[in-house]
Amino acid sequence: MFKLSGKTALVTGSSQGIGFALAKTLTEYGAKVFVHGSNKEKCENAAKEINNSVAVVSDLGNNTAAEEIYRLTGDVDILILNASVQFRTPWNEIGDEEFDKQIQVNLKSSLKLMQKYFPKMKENKFGRIITIGSVQQYKPHKDMAIYAASKCSQMSLVKNIAKQVAPFGITVNNISPGVIATPRNEKALSDINYSRLVIAGIPMGYAGKAEDISGAALLLCGDAGRYITGTDIIIDGGMSL
Ligand SMILES: NC(=O)c1ccc[n+]([C@@H]2O[C@H](COP(=O)([O-])OP(=O)(O)OC[C@H]3O[C@@H](n4cnc5c(N)ncnc54)[C@H](OP(=O)(O)O)[C@@H]3O)[C@@H](O)[C@H]2O)c1
Repeated sequence: MFKLSGKTALVTGSSQGIGFALAKTLTEYGAKVFVHGSNKEKCENAAKEINNSVAVVSDLGNNTAAEEIYRLTGDVDILILNASVQFRTPWNEIGDEEFDKQIQVNLKSSLKLMQKYFPKMKENKFGRIITIGSVQQYKPHKDMAIYAASKCSQMSLVKNIAKQVAPFGITVNNISPGVIATPRNEKALSDINYSRLVIAGIPMGYAGKAEDISGAALLLCGDAGRYITGTDIIIDGGMSL
């Protein structure tokens, strides 16, 4: 039910954090994985740590990234859209540059990558697409209005596209992590007062690990997940409740 032998996967933003854990898990269950990031050295080092993986470097901030990545990987069976950027700025100070970058990387590149990889998935009558959203779809942080909006919009895309591609054996789902200890929030969580405040809002009482996201992704990628589409799996220790 969970075997991925013979499958290929692209995990965007898998040079560290949640994406790295996802890529590692997929290879452990038999898939060949393209490890992706914008920083060449980080990406290549990550790929060295994961068996059966290949590094693919491209900055999703560039509008041509989807074409570039597709050219480097060819078709894949599993597409995990995990990379994102996040700025902390009060809503009334957000400028064009931060707005555009978050929308480009977190939303537009997701659509463009889905468009690129869809035709072969359709022909194969098999495809698994997972977007990584955020607990902020339900409980937004006051200084991340556009980040949250980009994740909500991505969820809307998931539902819309899931309905349209379901007849071709392709599922499209979102996973929404809560607070997960990764390089992204290492600095913020090292502030003991901030960390206490954040943890107080998590009913389970602690931040998750990157690996906590992997099981749900595995479920969605294998045969076990063939009838799950257009949904959101929230993995947040109860934070959104
Ligand atoms: N950690 C959390 O608490 C949390 C909570 C909710 C949702 N999430 C979501 O989970 C996903 C992973 O988060 P994370 O904490 O693991 O993030 P992270 O530690 O910041 O890692 C981000 C990954 O994305 C890549 N990336 C970032 N910008 C990119 C760009 N412009 N082009 C290509 N690659 C890019 C990074 O590689 P380079 O550095 O080489 O660019 C890195 O591999 C994100 O979608 C995030 O929004 C995380």
